Amino acid sequence: MREMEEKNMARRAHCLVLAYPLQGHINPILQFSKLLEHQGSRITLVTYRFYQNNLQRVPPSFAIETISDGFDQGGPIHAESHKAYMDRSTQVGSESLAELLEKLGQSKNHVDCVIYDSFFPWALDVAKSFGIMGAVFLTQNMTVNSIYYHVHLGKLQVPLTEHEFSLPSLPKLQLEDMPSFLLTYVEHPYYLDFFVDQFSNIDKADWVLCNTFYELDKEVANWITKIWPKFRNIGPNIPSMFLDKRHEDDKDYGVAQFESEECIEWLNDKPKGSVVYVSFGSIAMLGGEQMEELAYGLNECSNYFLWVVRASEEIKLPRGFEKKSEKGLIVTWCSQLKVLAHEAIGCFVTHCGWNSTLETLCIGVPTIAIPHWSDQTTNAKLMADVWKIGIRAQTNEKKIVRRETLKQCIRDVMESEEGKVIKSNVIQWKTLALKAIGEGGSSYQNIIEFTNNLFCSQA
Ligand code: UDX
Repeated sequence: MREMEEKNMARRAHCLVLAYPLQGHINPILQFSKLLEHQGSRITLVTYRFYQNNLQRVPPSFAIETISDGFDQGGPIHAESHKAYMDRSTQVGSESLAELLEKLGQSKNHVDCVIYDSFFPWALDVAKSFGIMGAVFLTQNMTVNSIYYHVHLGKLQVPLTEHEFSLPSLPKLQLEDMPSFLLTYVEHPYYLDFFVDQFSNIDKADWVLCNTFYELDKEVANWITKIWPKFRNIGPNIPSMFLDKRHEDDKDYGVAQFESEECIEWLNDKPKGSVVYVSFGSIAMLGGEQMEELAYGLNECSNYFLWVVRASEEIKLPRGFEKKSEKGLIVTWCSQLKVLAHEAIGCFVTHCGWNSTLETLCIGVPTIAIPHWSDQTTNAKLMADVWKIGIRAQTNEKKIVRRETLKQCIRDVMESEEGKVIKSNVIQWKTLALKAIGEGGSSYQNIIEFTNNLFCSQA
């Protein structure tokens, strides 16, 4: 019996999944890993040692390992600078990953494929030095990746000197639509270098996987597949309990956070489509003035609101602002997917992180885009002008969305004819997303192709 089990184990492809220690990166790569497991692969999830305590909500069937970034006691905040962190974590991370692969190999737990977040380009070099297949996982969307790739190729010069950009297969982009690190290159060159570095060795990757779906990004997918023949869309990577409910055991796995169940109870007695949900993700830090404008805008609009204000941001709320009233509820964290799927939610005021964008699109909730930085500015452009699932709130000369603007945006999305069109668009995208990830769909087929290839390479 034991022998048989061992043989079965041996037949399962073993994927080592190297996750970047951020909520917005771990959530989608975890979901993807679950799909691989459903297709018969065995998963070892790896992240940096300093972050391991956050990995409490991981499928029990996954093995967990850690590697060092050289700062085991607390990660990047202990480094002198971003560059110092990158230099040390690249060197120590590479050595530590090599030790882990060595250890697993020696214990007859050989790894067939290293699937690594694109923020760890060095992981591919380590995998290759062991003769192991390397698959890069792109967490952000393909328009954004394509922009950084052009910078890497030297076909888009920074600092930017133009105001409008026409890149192959992308919509025309204005300066304000570009990923923010291209605009802040002079002050903070390392941020852009970090993002561009994702593409330094991508031509050597055996697979390039992206958390999006073909129908959403057709043009750029067609274009990039000519350059990277092994490019495949494998998203949206969202728990199936919020999509087609295909996998009954599919929980909302992710980073451990304290979630308020209170908000679901609070939503339960609100009328259908009457609540504005507001969240700026796990990292964005808004200025005090912007927080004040949002607070009063929400309080004065004619709808209910549920607002996630992380504990570290609460101090920026106006003095005496009520955190719970008949009109609104402020929580420090919630299960966003559960909230978006609640029938009381009418629209989502979002910073346009890529996960939030995919989640709202898959659940069918229209948006008001208030991007903060990074890829969010480009996602906001796509949301408003390409997929037409929301509107982008205009900022003033101080780059602040005023309360009057927010109130108008909420009216436009919740009450106007334009809002009805937006709602119908988002439902159409939702249908396409479900089709892509459902049996026989574009992403589903790509995942099957990828796993079949894993098993072939094992034989
Ligand atoms: C980061 C970047 O900022 C984002 O732009 C990039 O595309 C991915 O990495 P983050 O800012 O946290 O992510 O935003 P987002 O991508 O939207 O991810 C946040 C995740 O946290 C989502 O999966 C969302 O459902 C979850 N979340 C957020 C909660 O579960 N509860 C909350 O209260 C807020």
